[in-house]
Amino acid sequence: PRRDWFPPSFLFGAATSAYQIEGAWNEDGKGPSTWDHFCHNFPEWIVDRSNGDVAADSYHMYAEDVRLLKEMGMDAYRFSISWPRILPKGTLAGGINEKGVEYYNKLIDLLLENGIEPYITIFHWDTPQALVDAYGGFLDEEDYKDYTDFAKVCFEKFGKTVKNWLTFNEPETFCSVSYGTGVLAPGRCSPGVSCAVPTGNSLSEPYIVAHNLLRAHAETVDIYNKYHKGADGRIGLALNVFGRVPYTNTFLDQQAQERSMDKCLGWFLEPVVRGDYPFSMRVSARDRVPYFKEKEQEKLVGSYDMIGINYYTSTFSKHIDLSPNNSPVLNTDDAYASQETKGPDGNAIGPPTGNAWINMYPKGLHDILMTMKNKYGNPPMYITENGMGDIDKGDLPKPVALEDHTRLDYIQRHLSVLKQSIDLGADVRGYFAWSLLDNFEWSSGYTERFGIVYVDRENGCERTMKRSARWLQEFNGAAKKVENNKILTPA
Ligand code: GCO
Repeated sequence: PRRDWFPPSFLFGAATSAYQIEGAWNEDGKGPSTWDHFCHNFPEWIVDRSNGDVAADSYHMYAEDVRLLKEMGMDAYRFSISWPRILPKGTLAGGINEKGVEYYNKLIDLLLENGIEPYITIFHWDTPQALVDAYGGFLDEEDYKDYTDFAKVCFEKFGKTVKNWLTFNEPETFCSVSYGTGVLAPGRCSPGVSCAVPTGNSLSEPYIVAHNLLRAHAETVDIYNKYHKGADGRIGLALNVFGRVPYTNTFLDQQAQERSMDKCLGWFLEPVVRGDYPFSMRVSARDRVPYFKEKEQEKLVGSYDMIGINYYTSTFSKHIDLSPNNSPVLNTDDAYASQETKGPDGNAIGPPTGNAWINMYPKGLHDILMTMKNKYGNPPMYITENGMGDIDKGDLPKPVALEDHTRLDYIQRHLSVLKQSIDLGADVRGYFAWSLLDNFEWSSGYTERFGIVYVDRENGCERTMKRSARWLQEFNGAAKKVENNKILTPA
């Protein structure tokens, strides 16, 4: 791939999220988030029993992060705001933490001084613990009001200079995994699953949370549009989308593939495009899927200027019989499809990467973009995440991690396919690598390194560009010289 394959205004950047990189979990007045609480109280649910107390220490090292982005010639940086750093108690009534505001303003100013466009994710999973204690967080409608208050504070404090906003990151993951399989904080799960906080009741929680998130999204966009947008503001949300391929060519598996796309992409996209959940979900998840009021639908429809697509990999979708004896156990099965990593011939969907759940299947990205174009009106899109992790259980030597052949291959293949999709009419305006830094990979702790930049946590979180970062630097025209196959960083 070459940079001039892409339109001149196309943005290249890298992405992170607050809890995964900032550290400073209790500094300068920050309140605890569900993630602080989860890691501190249930370390057995984190592979290496670690937490984000220090993470990549970006709270103290943000200037390093900006320097790296600049050296790589990046146009944009996607990061998230820690809600309890701004509102330690979660609510406006609990007071604004000006130190927290100051931190993000320093980061934003430094980015802008360096010509790097900030893309802010308002919520990347770190709910203030105080709200969970008070009323169950997003399980209750209350959170939707506190969320909009938080968003307003962000617009007021940062909106003069920041023009690109994403309300929610991967709501599907958040609902299914935080409230269904229980792997992510607050660690709640459906009956039949083991997790930190078994709820033992219904299968409905993910759907209730989804409903509250969608209403919060629509309300926030409405507020933004009315009071903060200005001439050049843009707002949207970032969706995690798996590519889905029918397990076999039978009609049943083809239907399973469609239901699986509806569950993953359509669950959050169809409400904002046309004001309701996908029809197939009303059939397969029946009584669990709530209805929007008319007023809510009006606010939902068209509540985006852009859609973020987080793409990592694809699976084979296999039909599960819809019969009364075969009701779903997990919320994640309830599209009546299982997701297989190997096809009927026993072959994986694509070459392996460093970590188990990601096989390289760039065509999945193309298929998704064509679905966005042909079925959902081709909105302006950004690839807000794309990447892979290297497993490191303390046994991946730094020089090997820096060699980084697989990640470079992965990024190059995805950029090539992206270029073809753009040529075929997909309205994609930018690409963010996940992630700028090796970071706290949720329940995998520090055992999966997703960075294009290596973070040496044994050594004061010292940062070193991996091969993929150096290649992107060259791709962006930022590297000055290549000597003996080594790209030298400009002075
Ligand atoms: C997200 C993602 C990231 C992960 C990445 C790798 O929600 O945006 O989950 O936070 O680190 O997807 O798993």
